[in-house]
Amino acid sequence: MEDHTCQCPSAVPETDLSLIAGVLDTYKDIPGSLITVLQRTQTIYGYIPKDAVLAISKALGIRPAKIMGVITFYAQFRLSPIGKHLLMVCQGTACHVNSSEKVAAAIGDELGIVAGETTPDGLFTYENVACLGCCSMAPVMMIQTKEQSEVYGPLTPKSARQIIRGIRKAEGGDKQ
Ligand code: FES
Repeated sequence: MEDHTCQCPSAVPETDLSLIAGVLDTYKDIPGSLITVLQRTQTIYGYIPKDAVLAISKALGIRPAKIMGVITFYAQFRLSPIGKHLLMVCQGTACHVNSSEKVAAAIGDELGIVAGETTPDGLFTYENVACLGCCSMAPVMMIQTKEQSEVYGPLTPKSARQIIRGIRKAEGGDKQ
């Protein structure tokens, strides 16, 4: 008999909603708690899964469209998982006057993605951010993993590419 199970690569495992059951139970009767619930949800999953939006909607009695509006309004919320290495490229004033946009362009080109995206291998997420508080090192980027965060600067397009290639190599993904 033919196997009709979906084998498409985009099929994602369902979210384990039991992880946020306690959060929903705690806040379900507290008016104005949506932001807190979204923050807690993101802390648990690393982002806000679509399934969780529906669960929050049910528990708090707020329409999913309204919840999505809040998520997309605030830059702190993500709707997809971040990569293992989160590259935050500063676009603050000091970095901007030191050609941060050229660094950002080189990073996007090196990774093959635009700001806000994650590489298909899940290794890198690249974001443009406001001042990282290290203006004397401008232009800078911070690279964050679960274990640590490190600031690099002053960067050039070339040095930014080299840093990314170094991480790729360390992760065993350098095919060159
Ligand atoms: S402007 Fe980039 S670190 Fe301050």
